[in-house]
Amino acid sequence: MLHRILQAALLPAVLLASAGAARAQGSLNLYCSVQVEWCQAAANAFQRESGIRVSVSQKGSGEVLAQIRAEAQNPRGDLWFGGTGDPHLQAAEENLSAEYRSAALDQLHDWAQKQARDSRYRTVGIYAGALGFGFNPELLARRNIAPPACWKDLLDARFRNEIQMANPQSSGTAYVMIATIVQIMGEDPAFEYLKALHRNINAYPRSGTGPIKSVARGETGVSISFVHDAVTERLGGFPVSSALPCEGTGYEVGSMSIIRGARNLRNAQRFYDWALTPAAQALGAETKQFQTPSNRAAPVPPEAPQMSQIRLIDYDFARYGASAERRRLIERWDREVNALPR
Ligand code: G6P
Repeated sequence: MLHRILQAALLPAVLLASAGAARAQGSLNLYCSVQVEWCQAAANAFQRESGIRVSVSQKGSGEVLAQIRAEAQNPRGDLWFGGTGDPHLQAAEENLSAEYRSAALDQLHDWAQKQARDSRYRTVGIYAGALGFGFNPELLARRNIAPPACWKDLLDARFRNEIQMANPQSSGTAYVMIATIVQIMGEDPAFEYLKALHRNINAYPRSGTGPIKSVARGETGVSISFVHDAVTERLGGFPVSSALPCEGTGYEVGSMSIIRGARNLRNAQRFYDWALTPAAQALGAETKQFQTPSNRAAPVPPEAPQMSQIRLIDYDFARYGASAERRRLIERWDREVNALPR
């Protein structure tokens, strides 16, 4: 009995002591633009290894950019993990992120190091992924609709009200699509294309993965998505297939940046170094997210779309990640496309 009372009396003290230890390691506020399962797994693994308490806020790439801009005088986030590369480059140019050169940089693929060089070491590539189409083969078969194979197919009357893409104001995925079409067609023809496509769009969800999740649930036949996001849904048990556009396609260099003025700068740097290790990069696949990791020694999961087999355009990241250009294209889309009736 005495033993139990003692134990009960000791327990809070022990808890306090360990909370104190965690406090001593401090904390890290993570803004995260991959899917929440990966965000959480990364936070847990890092917290376990470092004793640093991690809090996670998951948001789309465009939304995080807007948030760190709004908080620039009084930053609340320390590190921005994941999301498409263009808004990370924009943040770098707007002096919203901090320069950092990880010792792990030379372990990364060229495309990931280039992202660091282009930003004067204010961001770095952590993964790559190609853009394409997701579709629900069961739903399309029921409606007697052949799946899309080319960008131009999406304008066909058979896809009236059948397509979703995300909203480029909030979603980096949707911006990659617009920048891709501009690079393939030239800007004015690209906007004619986007206006014609608008007739076949039934919704522009906030999040980049919103459209493929609608495909999975059978709410829409087709989505414009990163093809690795289609793999996630298929492994989740949903009837989802994907296709790569015959004209070629764009891709993302998913990135990571330390927020300028981060209160927990040292912890952000520790997370940054850790996130570039092969072990940390394997957490994507462990949470069913199949981008190509940026560390050359990280295994490329067999489920991941093979980037070397995909007809990729020579995506001009410096140009389409430039602040004025990204802002201009999104505003033009909002004015000339989103405002149109359907
Ligand atoms: C998903 C993809 C990532 C991508 C992210 C962008 O999580 O798996 O590869 O970087 O979406 O999200 P957003 O909402 O900004 O389009």
